[in-house]
Amino acid sequence: MTIDLVNKIGIPRHVAVIMDGNGRWAQKHGNERIFGHRQGVESVRSIVEGAGELGVEYLTLYAFSTENWDRPKEEVNALMALLVDAVVQEIDNLNEKNVKMLVIGNLCCFPTEVESKLTEAIQSTSKNTGLKLILGLSYSGRWDILEAVKKISLEVKIGGIEVADVDEKFFSNCLSTSGIPDPELLIRTSGEFRISNFLLWQLAYSEFYFSNILWPDFRKENLFEAIVDFQNRERRFGKTSEQIRS
Ligand code: IPE
Ligand code: IPE
Ligand code: MG
Repeated sequence: MTIDLVNKIGIPRHVAVIMDGNGRWAQKHGNERIFGHRQGVESVRSIVEGAGELGVEYLTLYAFSTENWDRPKEEVNALMALLVDAVVQEIDNLNEKNVKMLVIGNLCCFPTEVESKLTEAIQSTSKNTGLKLILGLSYSGRWDILEAVKKISLEVKIGGIEVADVDEKFFSNCLSTSGIPDPELLIRTSGEFRISNFLLWQLAYSEFYFSNILWPDFRKENLFEAIVDFQNRERRFGKTSEQIRS
């Protein structure tokens, strides 16, 4: 689908993506799994560009889950190396496109080199004012919620806040996505229908879009298609259709 078919009114501010299917894509092409991960970088480039063109404000990409640490050591190591390469290679491109890169997740888990390259990219793009590209790395929704609970418990314990102060807004601001609006749209590729411990709190009222395309084949045209699908939905937030239309 081309960009002119997307209604410029009603572009979601925040799109989140579970980039899935790299391994199957590689297998389909008779290659090692890492080949699929490598090819997936091209898809990231394409949808970052597409999101920027549409004026999406936040694009969150689930790149490595807490559970992904349990994959075979060789795959984890290859993914870490790819992450460093991709980040280093993309910095100039991100700056050129005015993209600000952010990371959510347990960064301390990463090898020092990965962590320092990520920090470098975050700092180097920090002044950019266009699309905010948020990478979920060593991220899981339950981890995020537990971290918030720990922070809040400590605040209550030292008397900084009252239990009654903890409302939805307060809680949201204790999550790793503090200050970022909840995604209106979640896309998952590769024909899997699950959240896999992604943004559990933040996706409470998001629209879900499932695509059968394997991530390495996903391009900005597919993002446009997902957004058009989203634009044709009625978001009711518990109300009736009549209430929404009036
Ligand atoms: C998604 O592709 C990338 C990561 C989880 C890092 P997969 O590696 O999960 O690919 P499939 O699901 O095995 O095809
Ligand atoms: C989810 O994909 C995590 C990422 C895309 C980074 P997985 O392929 O790891 O998810 P499951 O295990 O199939 O649910
Ligand atoms: Mg997978």
